[in-house]
Amino acid sequence: AQVGKFFWRLTYGSALIGLGYLAYGIYEDRHPVDQKPPDPSKKTLVVLGSGWGSVSLLKKIDTENYNVVVISPRNFFLFTPLLPSCTTGTIEHRSIMEPLRNILRHKTASVTFYEAECTKVDPVNRVLTLRDNSEIKGDIAETSLPFDYLVIGVGAQNTTFGIPGVQENACFLKEIADAQKIRTRIMDCIETATFKDQTDEERKRLLHMVVVGGGPTGVEFAGELQDFFEEDLRKWVPEIADDFHVSLVEALPNVLPMFSKQLISYTEKTFKDEKINIHTKTMVKKVDEKTIFAEVTKPDGTKDMIEMPYGLLVWATGNAARPVVRDLMSKIPAQAKSRRGLEVNDYLVVNGTEGIWALGDCAATKYAPTAQVATQQGQYLARLFNTMAKTQALEEDIAHLEELGHATASPDDKKALATEIEAKAKALRRTKRLMPFQYTHQGSLAYIGSDKAIADLTFGDGNNLTSSGQMTYLFWRSAYVSMCFSTRNKLLVIMDWLKVKMFGRDVSRE
Ligand code: FAD
Ligand code: NAI
Repeated sequence: AQVGKFFWRLTYGSALIGLGYLAYGIYEDRHPVDQKPPDPSKKTLVVLGSGWGSVSLLKKIDTENYNVVVISPRNFFLFTPLLPSCTTGTIEHRSIMEPLRNILRHKTASVTFYEAECTKVDPVNRVLTLRDNSEIKGDIAETSLPFDYLVIGVGAQNTTFGIPGVQENACFLKEIADAQKIRTRIMDCIETATFKDQTDEERKRLLHMVVVGGGPTGVEFAGELQDFFEEDLRKWVPEIADDFHVSLVEALPNVLPMFSKQLISYTEKTFKDEKINIHTKTMVKKVDEKTIFAEVTKPDGTKDMIEMPYGLLVWATGNAARPVVRDLMSKIPAQAKSRRGLEVNDYLVVNGTEGIWALGDCAATKYAPTAQVATQQGQYLARLFNTMAKTQALEEDIAHLEELGHATASPDDKKALATEIEAKAKALRRTKRLMPFQYTHQGSLAYIGSDKAIADLTFGDGNNLTSSGQMTYLFWRSAYVSMCFSTRNKLLVIMDWLKVKMFGRDVSRE
């Protein structure tokens, strides 16, 4: 009985602490304190982008030390891991967006934000060109901005490998607008397929949903789409039940090359059970308005061309450098050989430049382009900038004390000043000892549909643990909720999941 009582007290206690923490989170979000104004006499640090890398830097940097300016065409942070869930309405898009203004408003010294795209970086004259690309433009829609330090965190764009017809006919999955477009298209294909007198062949084409690219983006989207069909569409539009199909096309012999063999087999088997068609060793070569043309490598090594009629095509074949990054690379001889993005040194300084750093998907490093890498790089750069500011302050103090030492005639004062200088010099040496960036991989997680997820986890001294199935899905959910940016995001995501469990997904077309 004593143990039982203790257990209940512990549970109530934890619940109360949890609620208190939640309430405090909400209160803090809603009540930002007054900020110090920006100080233009300080060095201007410009941060490009409002994604994983830049926001993790902005969260940790002490903005009192710099005149910080952020430039991004997107005035919010996007929690990309849950973006595939937005394509089917499992999660509403606003639940995974966090306004950048809220993030910046909580910094001790205020940060200037310009909603704009940086179109050019001049690394020699240290000037940026920025353009307002939004619908509403004022008298000035393009201007320039000088910088002392620059952090480039502009991410990457979708690659099409120049395959004809992809850009014009496919949907992509990187931004909120992409997910909204896919959500609308799914329902449009379905309503058009059920239009009066539609031919059998046309109905089948319209209901064929093809995903190209068997990386995590393609796999997660295919899983979400099949869930939508099984849990909702089949019920509300029963006439499509026989013809609605999801296909996943991958050029390599298997999907998810970055996961362990065991998890690859588990995913492929789950997809087969879920009736998702997997076409591996199938490389898409051309796309037109209604058909995909692909080259299949047969088991005997010979190749065959196949045609796949489709209604919806989602293209997820990885990343390419953005135009602003390509333009900068072309101006720096040390970047001549780089193809994937800006090459950086161990301290994330862009090779061939001074005072310019790059992080996340726009940097070409030995790490995969993931949110995990971008976040750790952002945290590292925040430490670096905080350290640089401390170093500068210590150097100024030492110079001042040395001046005083020269000016005084008293041996006692000289001795006291020398001791103080030595203490500051020691602190300076300690501060300057910043290690190069080191990435700690915590593992990979992916949702594969039908309430199953896969996890390749790393812990301790590089030990690995693989896990799959429904328990892993619960882990996936709790991990991603805890990683959502704000208390508001966490609550909204949980409410979206509950809403879908209770009422199903909304099948209206926006
Ligand atoms: P981003 O987060 O893409 O941010 C780039 C920012 O730069 C944006 O704010 C953009 O608006 C801005 N920008 C673009 N052009 C300019 C310009 N010219 N000037 C100024 N600003 C500009 N990774 C994981 O680790 N785990 C996951 O589960 C996961 N799931 C994913 C799911 C999907 C659907 C996708 C697409 C990616 C996923 N990733 C995941 C990968 C992860 O999202 C990226 O690696 C991460 O976003 C990279 O961060 P970043 O800061 O470099 O770029
Ligand atoms: P990816 O680069 O991981 O995978 C793209 C796939 O497309 C490759 O397997 C490639 O072989 C295939 N492909 C390329 N051209 C093709 C063609 N013409 N025809 C058929 N297949 C073709 O890209 P993805 O999935 O967009 O991911 C990008 C980055 O984001 C990766 O680093 C990934 O790890 C990360 N990410 C991580 C997630 C997670 O951890 N859950 C989720 C989504 C993305």
